[in-house]
Amino acid sequence: MVRAFIPESVGYGIQTHAQLGFALMNVVDAVNARLSVRQFLSTPVADDQLKSLLSNASRSPSGGNVQPWRIYIVNGESMTRMREFLAGQPPLDEPEYDIYPKSISEPYRTNRFTIGEQMYATLGIAREDKAGRQRQFANNNDFFGAPAAMFCYIDRQMGPPQWSDLGMFLQTFMLLAEESGLSTCAQEYWSVRHKSVTSFVGAPENEMLFCGLAIGFADKAAPINSLRSERMPLSEWATFVQ
Ligand SMILES: Cc1cc2nc3c(=O)[nH]c(=O)nc-3n(C[C@H](O)[C@H](O)[C@H](O)COP(=O)(O)O)c2cc1C
Repeated sequence: MVRAFIPESVGYGIQTHAQLGFALMNVVDAVNARLSVRQFLSTPVADDQLKSLLSNASRSPSGGNVQPWRIYIVNGESMTRMREFLAGQPPLDEPEYDIYPKSISEPYRTNRFTIGEQMYATLGIAREDKAGRQRQFANNNDFFGAPAAMFCYIDRQMGPPQWSDLGMFLQTFMLLAEESGLSTCAQEYWSVRHKSVTSFVGAPENEMLFCGLAIGFADKAAPINSLRSERMPLSEWATFVQ
């Protein structure tokens, strides 16, 4: 019997997939099915489902078991309030970290360029249609219509190893969400609105925002959700040392 472990501390105990109401999904299925969803249905997400995902995601490894992730969840009514709050805040803050290296080299630069071009092509937005591109980018600000979101923070004393741990937590959460029928889109976008987000969620000064994660049920009919991002061939990034 496949079991999902949920710590006693959150009062859920250990539950089977059936008890959790999930379809059975292998890890490889979840890895291959997950993609960044950029149009969500308004269908609500239950707090209990999010608690269960968070509890399971906390089984992610971290160096020294430091567990550096600090997570803020906005869902349902608090999401309605957050949208209203954001509308009255400055549109942009100076980000606290470089989202990309200042002059990113090849092949990374092309990878980044390609996904952007493919996304706009999926939507039929031409390269010269700057307004159309900006409108699509601005959908970040509405969490792509998602009813729920989480914000990933990390204590400022932490360095690259702990940021990597936070990334592992994020990926584990996304895979578990996939298994439970939910879709996600990680959003570094929120680093350019970190002051507004921090003010709303009430994170203390010693914590720094890494990214948001839009969470909800995918609008499967939306063209943008048909985008399947490419990956470089193994030979370009893995070396079997002889
Ligand atoms: C940490 C992180 C931050 C991201 N930030 C954004 C974002 O702000 N807006 C967005 O549309 N996509 C964002 N993405 C999604 C990436 O563009 C996406 O993961 C990548 O193109 C691969 O596509 P896939 O997730 O569909 O496999 C982010 C992904 C990660 C992992």
